[in-house]
Amino acid sequence: MDPFRDRVAVVTGGGGGIGSALARAFAARGARLALADVDRNAAEVVAKELTAGGAEAEAFAVDVSDRDDVARLAGEVTDRFGKVHVVCNNAGVAIGGEMWSAPTADWEYTMAVNFWGVLHGVQAFVPRILEHGEGGYVVNTASMAGLTGMSFLGMYCASKFAVVGLTESLSRELRERGVGVSLLCPMIVATDINANSLRQHPDPERRRQAEAAPSGENPPPAMRGGVIQPDDVARRVVRAMERNQLYVLTHPEQREILRRRAERIDAVFEPDAWGD
Ligand SMILES: NC(=O)c1ccc[n+]([C@@H]2O[C@H](COP(=O)([O-])OP(=O)(O)OC[C@H]3O[C@@H](n4cnc5c(N)ncnc54)[C@H](O)[C@@H]3O)[C@@H](O)[C@H]2O)c1
Repeated sequence: MDPFRDRVAVVTGGGGGIGSALARAFAARGARLALADVDRNAAEVVAKELTAGGAEAEAFAVDVSDRDDVARLAGEVTDRFGKVHVVCNNAGVAIGGEMWSAPTADWEYTMAVNFWGVLHGVQAFVPRILEHGEGGYVVNTASMAGLTGMSFLGMYCASKFAVVGLTESLSRELRERGVGVSLLCPMIVATDINANSLRQHPDPERRRQAEAAPSGENPPPAMRGGVIQPDDVARRVVRAMERNQLYVLTHPEQREILRRRAERIDAVFEPDAWGD
């Protein structure tokens, strides 16, 4: 079954960056798009662009950290399109800093959007997908920061490891139910995530820092690696969905980093390390 043609796809964080690229790629394959974003105007711009290109698309406001708001979104999208087949729980924020001195507000905000936001999407949309019985797909956006720890990105890593654990488990739970699951784990992608994350922060002082945030083209040293474009990420997601692959990795350098991590864990079982 074609995962895109005439299927209804909801993309959170669809107002920009990776979310808007996913929407463009899905629309190019014949999907009908619901762009959901806390920045409704940004989602509206993307919806207009897709509509001008001949696709069916509509913008919705949502704050994914609010469970009731995501439930409302699921109802509104279903009213508008009839059904939902694909949900991309993609909205996310990134705040750097030492974890021991980071304000609790930074931790709560990061977990609320990145972890709870994904869970709220699963809770609101998966039952609807199972109910209509036409099958579907869940794409959860984690990060390479969900597969290995990174200095000064502890809050972000903790939230993304949670998404990885949730999504690997979800794929097992849905395996026999006709719903595919993919876990998107990019390294650096050229988006405005740093500024956007501060712009939506509950603390006004943090919001004031947004203008000085580094752009995706010029990332902080903690996030080393090649910078790719959101459309490159979207192409990989489309391919993974066509093949029903769980892991979506985007940068060749991830292979070596993940291999070294697996080796460090494996080394624990070597007799020298394991023996008493
Ligand atoms: N850019 C990268 O280098 C990178 C790398 C790995 C993973 N990611 C992940 O990719 C996803 C998309 O990020 P991006 O880089 O495209 O950033 P982005 O800032 O361009 O896009 C994120 C979108 O989510 C929206 N958003 C933020 N908080 C929200 C909320 N509470 N409710 C609804 N919408 C909200 C923003 O308004 C924005 O439009 C995130 O989960 C991010 O953690 C990004």
